[in-house]
Amino acid sequence: MIRYFRSLLGQSGLFVACATALAATLAAPAAFAQSAAPAAATGAATGAKSVETKAAMCIGCHGIPGYQATFPEIHRVPMISGQNAKYIVAALNAYKSGERRHPTMRGIGAGMSDQDMVEVADWYAKQAKPATADKPSREPSPQVAALLQKAACTSCHGANFSKAIDPSYPKLAGQHADYLFVALKSYKNEPNNVVGRSNGVMGGIAKQFTNAELKALAQYVGSLEGEMQVKPQSRFR
Ligand code: HEC
Ligand code: HEC
Repeated sequence: MIRYFRSLLGQSGLFVACATALAATLAAPAAFAQSAAPAAATGAATGAKSVETKAAMCIGCHGIPGYQATFPEIHRVPMISGQNAKYIVAALNAYKSGERRHPTMRGIGAGMSDQDMVEVADWYAKQAKPATADKPSREPSPQVAALLQKAACTSCHGANFSKAIDPSYPKLAGQHADYLFVALKSYKNEPNNVVGRSNGVMGGIAKQFTNAELKALAQYVGSLEGEMQVKPQSRFR
């Protein structure tokens, strides 16, 4: 959290021209901690909010190369630029409903309408790198190949873990390996109020593996060339 605000403050010099927005950003921490209403809720002045305005607060975490979250352990914040739009919406709804219990993202999901989710998801999905080849950029080790086969990961996540069989399933190739590991472990958690995800599909799969095996899977899939990226944006255009 602290780092998030520091990064916002660190960037504030970039948009001195936009005094209203700056004031809103500086005033945001309290509102953010409470309800995670979009930090740049400055649309009131101009009427309808643009998608850039809706995404302005996401950029503070998802648009900063190397930005790390500290909960439930230190890992990089997932890349969402280039992710499947329907999956982004599904994930936001999973935070909103509490199926995914990451506290910060629950607050953010709760503050978004269906319309906000669709607009922001489409905007992020369009920021993809060129489509990757079906053949992964690296071969797995024999150990990892056996793990991939055991749960038939590509039968759902598709060729190069980038062409999921359903658009509401995520692309995985090239995603930060430390995040993939945290995500995989989170499916093993039994429902409680603090951490974990209770997705039926991935829960059944993740529970078949030890944490060491999940880490090996995450490292391989994260090492592949993928279509997602961290795309820094100017916050107000
Ligand atoms: C304070 C930092 C922070 C902010 C601000 C933030 N996120 Fe997140 N986001 C995270 C973290 C950390 C995770 C990983 C949560 C988890 O482990 O489930 C995440 C996860 C996600 C995911 C799931 C990604 C996946 O691969 O499953 C989506 C989608 C997402 N965020 C969208 C958004 C959108 C849209 C916004 C702005 C409206 C936003 N986030 C704002 C930190 C943030
Ligand atoms: C039967 C279909 C299916 C199979 C097989 C499958 N997955 Fe998934 N996977 C999904 C779905 C659906 C989701 C989205 C779940 C959610 O919304 O939380 C998902 C989510 C994930 C995520 C979270 C991504 C993110 O950005 O948070 C990871 C990591 C993952 N799968 C890895 C794997 C690995 C590794 C395997 C093989 C060991 C595998 N999956 C096999 C359907 C599948």
